[in-house]
Amino acid sequence: MPIRRREEYFISGLLHDVGKVAIAGCFLDKYFEAIEKANNEEIPLFEAEKSVFNFDHQNVGLLITNHWRLEGGIKDAIGHHHDTDSYEGEYKTMVYAVCIADYISMYLKIGNAGNTELIKPSDKVFEHLGISLEEIAAANEGLYAEIEKARVFLNLSH
Ligand SMILES: [Fe+2]
Repeated sequence: MPIRRREEYFISGLLHDVGKVAIAGCFLDKYFEAIEKANNEEIPLFEAEKSVFNFDHQNVGLLITNHWRLEGGIKDAIGHHHDTDSYEGEYKTMVYAVCIADYISMYLKIGNAGNTELIKPSDKVFEHLGISLEEIAAANEGLYAEIEKARVFLNLSH
């Protein structure tokens, strides 16, 4: 994969939940209400956001991508990483990759950004990327080794 494409995947992963930052920055108390609702009702945070705000962090993320003039896969990954079953755009591979990466990070308890309800992506997502949950599980050891290297490099604690 060309380096530019790799950078787009990296940026998509880094920014996919940018809408949460904007919502929390504007409505912090209500955002905590959404997080609490998600945890109490065991629903995904984006659904709790819709219930509390009538929009979710993907909607806000899309507004931000427009403001920042981001296009293509990065824009679609930010705006559709939880809507993979209805997404029909041309950047399915990037949107689905961000969805799976989000799932893996929650599954492995690497991080959750306020969302604790683990929702397995649909088979369509795994099939499109040509990967299975079993293959992801088998890659765990290598993944943890990479995370540990990053921790050492960044001098972060567990
Ligand atoms: Fe998200």
